[in-house]
Amino acid sequence: MKLKIIASTAIFTLLVIGLSWQGCKKDDNDGPPCTLTNPDLSYTKNIKAIIDQQCISCHVTGSGVPGIVGDYTTYEGIKSRLDNGKVLDRVVVKKDMPQGGGMSQAQRDSINCWIAAGYPK
Ligand code: HEC
Repeated sequence: MKLKIIASTAIFTLLVIGLSWQGCKKDDNDGPPCTLTNPDLSYTKNIKAIIDQQCISCHVTGSGVPGIVGDYTTYEGIKSRLDNGKVLDRVVVKKDMPQGGGMSQAQRDSINCWIAAGYPK
């Protein structure tokens, strides 16, 4: 009897740990909290300039870069990658884009806050 209680407690504990771990994994797809105090960000106002400087040398139709996905010269061109979380993942979480580096943390913070705000155009 006692063994049964211990066993079911153990199973229950493992279940809770398992579920919360799943929860964490999901949260990793969200960016860190926005740290800018007064983010006044929109695609047109400030984000397009960052993307033009940091991304479109590769992410443009006909760039010739092997394996390239997406044309980021317009809002519509990058929007599907904002929707599926890929930009957040690669630029803010993994930080492996832009390929080869060269993006300041301030620019990554701007992208993060802009996405957190629903990436207004
Ligand atoms: C020097 C070239 C280069 C630059 C600059 C660059 N990328 Fe990339 N990017 C690539 C290549 C090549 C791939 C495909 C291989 C891979 O996924 O790593 C890629 C893949 C991606 C992907 C995943 C593919 C997908 O599903 O859309 C995202 C998102 C992305 N880049 C975002 C960006 C953003 C945002 C910038 C600018 C901040 C940027 N990249 C700058 C070369 C580049």
